[in-house]
Amino acid sequence: MSDRTPAPKKLYIKTYGCQMNVYDSERMAEALGGNGYVETKSPEDADMILLNTCHIREKAAEKVYSELGRMKALKIDKPDLKFGVTGCVAQAEGEEIMRRQPIVDLVVGPQSYHRLPAMDDAVQAGKKALDTDFPDDDKFDTLKRRSKAKRGPTAFLTVQEGCDKFCAFCVVPYTRGSEVSRPADRIIREAQELVETGVREITLLGQNVNAYHGHDGGLAGLIWALDKVDGLERIRFTTSHPNDMDDALIEAHGTCSKLMPYLHLPVQAGSDKILKAMNRKHTAESYIRVIERIRAARPDILLSGDFIVGFPGETDQDFEDTLSLIREVHYGQAYSFKYSTRPGTPAAEKPQLPEDVMNERLQRLQGLLREQQVQTQESMVGREVSVLFEKAGREAGQMIGKSEYLHAVFAEAPLDSIGKVRKVRITRSETNSLAGNLSKSPQF
Ligand code: SAH
Ligand code: SF4
Ligand code: F3S
Repeated sequence: MSDRTPAPKKLYIKTYGCQMNVYDSERMAEALGGNGYVETKSPEDADMILLNTCHIREKAAEKVYSELGRMKALKIDKPDLKFGVTGCVAQAEGEEIMRRQPIVDLVVGPQSYHRLPAMDDAVQAGKKALDTDFPDDDKFDTLKRRSKAKRGPTAFLTVQEGCDKFCAFCVVPYTRGSEVSRPADRIIREAQELVETGVREITLLGQNVNAYHGHDGGLAGLIWALDKVDGLERIRFTTSHPNDMDDALIEAHGTCSKLMPYLHLPVQAGSDKILKAMNRKHTAESYIRVIERIRAARPDILLSGDFIVGFPGETDQDFEDTLSLIREVHYGQAYSFKYSTRPGTPAAEKPQLPEDVMNERLQRLQGLLREQQVQTQESMVGREVSVLFEKAGREAGQMIGKSEYLHAVFAEAPLDSIGKVRKVRITRSETNSLAGNLSKSPQF
């Protein structure tokens, strides 16, 4: 018998899609840690490659197949290399992935990845493993606790998964299943563990995070419970639905000092006819009323949103209504997409708009959103913001962090600023960031 412990197996995970996938990738790496895997940043070193995928738009799903096509060559030098597809494409396409790309050994959906260690055993024994169940057991209960290794100052924490809203364009209710909230006590424990490893800011994640109901007081109740966690300095949450912005949550934006003044509140479109066809269950007017209430609670809040252009049936006037809504709200930043047909969703049955119309509308919409982003950033110049420093910048002595409004901020600061919140006077607005100087005044 050899007295040498076997070299650890190497795991490479490539993450696509939303922040929840980023969180899931971390948890998958932890789960496979129990099977002797350590993570590597290079696919060439890996014994197992996982693509944690996104199905939200057509291009996102196609990327997975082209990536698999490219990575196939790695098997020439390393015939034992294993490939897995996880996440939302895995859920949506299941076995079809193995048919289309036979190098794939393992396919696991987002609700079953706690079963990865057993699936890895099967794969190592030369079998193929597929699991796209929505199991009754809570995967978070079965997963190993998060590792104690020192982490950066910010972390994601999934509190709610799935969606029952069924917007007519969206695959998420099918890939992530129905809404499930994790119990508050587990989340608080996980937050405490994160703080012990150096985390100062936690972003609570959910496809409909403000529909969270694992605490009596809903998401606001959870936020107030986390407010009591010593050492945790900042709380954020994403993504919210306008219909779930309840009074307590709006009020928390005005009263909870750890809750940061930034809110991502997608509206998708500004025409009531399109909102109805999208099955959003709110109007442009009701969305604007919600925004007004949030701004009354927290006047300086920075608002972000998601927009889809070219939804089936969208006329020039409908599109103009979206631009009007954007002008009325004024977003600090936003994401916008051309409508993409997703198989199995109700909107996929409808006649599609011509590509050139969608392209033209997307350009105009992005132009307007860009203008608003630039205005918002420029309005920060001369102001003092609080920055949680996260890492060193490219230039010597320069550090990068995020302001309370989630702007990336560059400033000259000592190395030990990492993990600390410092006041910074903004001097310049750049393309997607701000630059400033540490304030001389005492911080606390
Ligand atoms: N749960 C969140 C976000 C879901 S997906 C919410 O309700 O807002 C993130 C964004 O992708 C959506 O807000 C939407 O703008 C966009 N999106 C979803 N499906 C899409 C599709 N079929 N085509 C184009 N964009 C889409
Ligand atoms: Fe998709 Fe709508 Fe659910 Fe958001 S609320 S995840 S857009 S179905
Ligand atoms: Fe994509 Fe799934 Fe997130 S479809 S956006 S990875 S929930």
